[in-house]
Amino acid sequence: MPLTVKGLEGIVAAETNMSYINGEKGILEYVGISIDDLARNSTFEETTYLLWNRKLPTKAELQAFTTEFRANYDLPAGMVERIQSLPKTAQPMHVLRTMVSALAMHDVDPNANDPVSARKKALSVLATTPAIIACFDRYRRGLPFVAPRKDLTFAQNFLYMLNGQVPTEAVARAFDICMILHADHGLNNSTFTSRVIISTLSDVYSALTGAIGSLRGPLHGGANEEVMEMLGEIEALAKSQGKNAMDVVEPYIMGRLAKKERIMGFGHRVYKTIDPRATFLKTFAKQIAADTGNLPLYEISSKIEQIMAREVGAKGIYPNVDFYSATTYHSIGLKLDLFTPMFAMSRNAGWSGHIIEQLSDNRLFRPAAEYVGPHNSPYMAMDSR
Ligand code: ACO
Repeated sequence: MPLTVKGLEGIVAAETNMSYINGEKGILEYVGISIDDLARNSTFEETTYLLWNRKLPTKAELQAFTTEFRANYDLPAGMVERIQSLPKTAQPMHVLRTMVSALAMHDVDPNANDPVSARKKALSVLATTPAIIACFDRYRRGLPFVAPRKDLTFAQNFLYMLNGQVPTEAVARAFDICMILHADHGLNNSTFTSRVIISTLSDVYSALTGAIGSLRGPLHGGANEEVMEMLGEIEALAKSQGKNAMDVVEPYIMGRLAKKERIMGFGHRVYKTIDPRATFLKTFAKQIAADTGNLPLYEISSKIEQIMAREVGAKGIYPNVDFYSATTYHSIGLKLDLFTPMFAMSRNAGWSGHIIEQLSDNRLFRPAAEYVGPHNSPYMAMDSR
């Protein structure tokens, strides 16, 4: 009987030609191109094209893709009203999961899984999720819906729909880079979830809805919100003790480690060195934090990184993508509970690519469980139990 592999660590369960990860060396490539090169030179639209077509687009191809992408920015009729009928206290990730599921009901042929239909559905979900998130956030703030603008990029359009004004070039670029860095990452939990669901030949909407549910967890995409909460706790602790935040970082982190608590934004199932996305984001977070008056937050983060390297670096626990994305999103002015939806907005590109990849060579996922319970137990009548 084979051994149970808890968490499926190290098990190869699918083939992909989208992203390559080398956890020992800290390498991440999309279709062979380093994440660093893409973050420096590409855009989210171009990166999505790369992931879905396994090649960089020519100028004309990118133009055509961008036009098609923007043509899908609008929410289906009635969707804004539906979002505005939700409880204002709802959490944005629950709203996003529910509304992506609801998009299926606006599709006349929701179950079509042929390559052309699956890609069309994927593009439509990718293009409309920003409007879902922005619409809900404005509604809960008592503000009217701002319709998308087709002359704006994905990043600009989201921030425009959220804030009612076109962002500065620097802010839009910071946001676009975050989108590029989060777009795909091998067979992570949410991507695996999407492939498991589509392997039953269910539908693209169901697979994406399940993936959003997976991403929400604090051990996965939810960690970026917990990082920000931790930074807030450190600032509040310093204030309550009349100290400078930098002076309480050490006792705060050491206290949590002594209680065997996890420090969010550190550690990764695959990376045993610094996550290459975190390497890039670290430099970038410093710049955007300085530009927006949030440098103290970056400095607290940097000190946490130093303490963690000293205390748990030997175990291969280093910052992951969520650690510095928290500072970046905060500096851009995003509210805490929008951090994980931002991750979902970007990862939609990767999930969809994997869904289409799974459909192209499908075999139903159906692993086995090792039964460890009793055998030959008598059935006791209700009165005798
Ligand atoms: N803080 C402190 N110690 C940690 C951390 C952490 N964040 N992560 C792992 N460790 C320690 C564990 O306590 C364990 O120590 P031990 O061997 O002395 O008991 C050792 O490192 C190995 O931990 P595992 O749980 O076996 O590692 P696993 O591969 O299962 O976990 C995970 C990976 C879930 C990401 C983990 O590192 C974690 O909980 N991190 C915090 C949450 C987080 O940031 N998640 C985002 C991941 S990236 C992403 O999804 C985008």
